Amino acid sequence: MQRRFLFLVALVVIGFAGAAYFFWPVNGPARNLNLTGDVVRGNYVIRTAGCVACHTDIEGGGAYLAGGLPLKTPFGDFIPPNITSDKQAGIGAWSLEEFSHAMSNGISPGNKHLYPSFPFDSYTKMSDQDMVDLYVALMASAPVAQKAADHSIGFPFNIRLSMQGWKRLFFHPERFTPDISKSGLWNRGAYLANGPAHCGACHTPRNIFGAAQTDQHFKGTPTGSKPFFPAIDAATLKERGYDAETLVDALTGGFDPDFDTLGGAMGEVINESLTHWTPEDLSALAAYLLDED
Ligand code: HEC
Ligand code: HEC
Repeated sequence: MQRRFLFLVALVVIGFAGAAYFFWPVNGPARNLNLTGDVVRGNYVIRTAGCVACHTDIEGGGAYLAGGLPLKTPFGDFIPPNITSDKQAGIGAWSLEEFSHAMSNGISPGNKHLYPSFPFDSYTKMSDQDMVDLYVALMASAPVAQKAADHSIGFPFNIRLSMQGWKRLFFHPERFTPDISKSGLWNRGAYLANGPAHCGACHTPRNIFGAAQTDQHFKGTPTGSKPFFPAIDAATLKERGYDAETLVDALTGGFDPDFDTLGGAMGEVINESLTHWTPEDLSALAAYLLDED
């Protein structure tokens, strides 16, 4: 009898420990948000971070950042919401801390777990200064009083709490750490590609749970998969015939080594993000992608 009781106690303890493990918040290192934000710099971060491509219905001529077209995934359709400064329909009522928490840990006010179709697993790497600049620029954006539509996703993914377990297993919030054996230019490129510009959101393959396979960084999806994303690791890009100059050319709407322009989802990244980058940041991106410095 007593042994059976002990066994039950052990089961309950293990159960609680398991639940606590899964439901313990997954938060990254604290940020220093006590910085002065700058709207001009922040508007540039909006571009390097590609917020416009998702949060604006470009095809339908929708208002800037007022909500985007559905992102189709195997789990359902996710609608990027209105992130203008409108206090009801957008995020105008959010504090800087709340905004940073959503971007860095994937949690919105009211403890709402965000889906990783919003690439917070890349944005968590952004610098504190970029985060603060981004916030002041969004707060200065034109308010749009129209809410975006709701997601249409199936059970059990429509339960936001399920994302807590996902985060526990697959999300590692952290800031970008430079590689001191590389140049400043290379590190700027690495920061942009893996932080704000979230290139891996498409070019790093995902497992069946939709989590990036970090050991396959930038290795693309297998040939024939739909959607298909090519590999953009240094060896593959060089094999394809890119050098720093031709890569920047292709990434800003020019020709790739096959004399084609890059289209589809990449066309949007080019139009809404890369063509707005400074020449220095494009050189940095190329130096990092080709691993040359
Ligand atoms: C790949 C597409 C994509 C990109 C790029 C993207 N977002 Fe989002 N974002 C989404 C989706 C989808 C959601 C909804 C997630 C959810 O409901 O859990 C979202 C949600 C958010 C939220 C939470 C809003 C709320 O009401 O809870 C904020 C804030 C946000 N995004 C800001 C940004 C900013 C700022 C950028 C640029 C730095 C950005 N997003 C880039 C797709 C994207
Ligand atoms: C929303 C998904 C998405 C994101 C984000 C994205 N890409 Fe792409 N990328 C694609 C697709 C799709 C293609 C294939 C385009 C084509 O063949 O027309 C592509 C093609 C490319 C190519 C051409 C590769 C070749 O074999 O010629 C390069 C280089 C590239 N992307 C670099 C980047 C970089 C750098 C970033 C981050 C700044 C990035 N991509 C972000 C979807 C994306």
